[in-house]
Amino acid sequence: MLDSFREAGSPHQPVLYQPSIDALQPHDGGRYVDATVGAGGHARGILFFSSPTGLLLGLDRDENALAIARDKLSEFQYRVFLKHSSYIQMKNETEILGWSFVDGILMDLGLSSMQLDTPERGFSFRTDNLLDMRFDPSSGISAADIVNSYREEELAKILWEYGEEPKSRRIAAAILRSRPVTTTGQLAALVASVYGSHRGEHHPATRTFQAIRIAVNNELGGLEQTLPIAIDLLKPGGRLAVITFHSLEDRIVKHFFQRESKDCLCPPNQPICTCGHKASIRMVQRKPVIPTNEEIRNNPRSRSAKLRIAEKLELARPLQSKP
Ligand SMILES: C[S@@+](CC[C@H](N)C(=O)[O-])C[C@H]1O[C@@H](n2cnc3c(N)ncnc32)[C@H](O)[C@@H]1O
Repeated sequence: MLDSFREAGSPHQPVLYQPSIDALQPHDGGRYVDATVGAGGHARGILFFSSPTGLLLGLDRDENALAIARDKLSEFQYRVFLKHSSYIQMKNETEILGWSFVDGILMDLGLSSMQLDTPERGFSFRTDNLLDMRFDPSSGISAADIVNSYREEELAKILWEYGEEPKSRRIAAAILRSRPVTTTGQLAALVASVYGSHRGEHHPATRTFQAIRIAVNNELGGLEQTLPIAIDLLKPGGRLAVITFHSLEDRIVKHFFQRESKDCLCPPNQPICTCGHKASIRMVQRKPVIPTNEEIRNNPRSRSAKLRIAEKLELARPLQSKP
């Protein structure tokens, strides 16, 4: 599978590359975490701009991605550490290296083009393969497990909440009638049958596939858990840059950044602060950075990307130990 993965990944174009590098301000001697190292595109930039001694820890749940990153980053030798691990574990992984704090963290969320374009990974409805969709195919439940074992209401909830799918109930009912649903082609055809003839820009199964992938990998829960861990890990002045690809992820990042950049979370009509909340970050930009028209033309998959950047404040209190 690694060969088809490599083929699918070439040439891989990191999304919002320059704005992400500018956000992290890599410098000589700095320590960085690329929490979703993928094919190593952004990581390469971070290592290049933190030459000659900057260090980078790259994490990914996907062993195939790490194999590609290992090749791509080999020139940086002792300056790179790559680990098969989830970003939820970033605190433990940096501790293993003896790093208490880091200068910058990048999270480029979601799946890579390599994963989407490798049919055996079961992420795409464009080819017919086993329904898998796991970022880490060596552990956890697959898309087929969810589709074939969850109750109808649970499936409808996933499609509605993670895919914003307006026909969630009808699709869930159709899945139940067609069980076992074992391939991507079968699931895509089933969703298409609920929609009847379609002429829209997107395949009608796009939202269903997104929803099931998010559920398989617990993407939103993992992101919510990781953001405070990432902020705690930053040095004062260190930066967290997060690239999202859909509104559900972006909303989580936006609300977290808004909340953590405020000194008080009491209702606005309350005369005295009783919450004691203190800001731990400042938002580097109010609005997210989005790709230029030129980037979207060169890499259409970048079209929904949004980059948000936070900088840790000098006197930030640890978020993890807050009640
Ligand atoms: C959009 S790609 C990253 C591309 C990368 N920035 C590059 O330049 O090549 C997202 C990567 O995040 C990985 N990933 C998803 N969830 C993860 C998690 N919880 N922990 C670590 N990696 C994760 C995926 O396996 C995928 O390789």
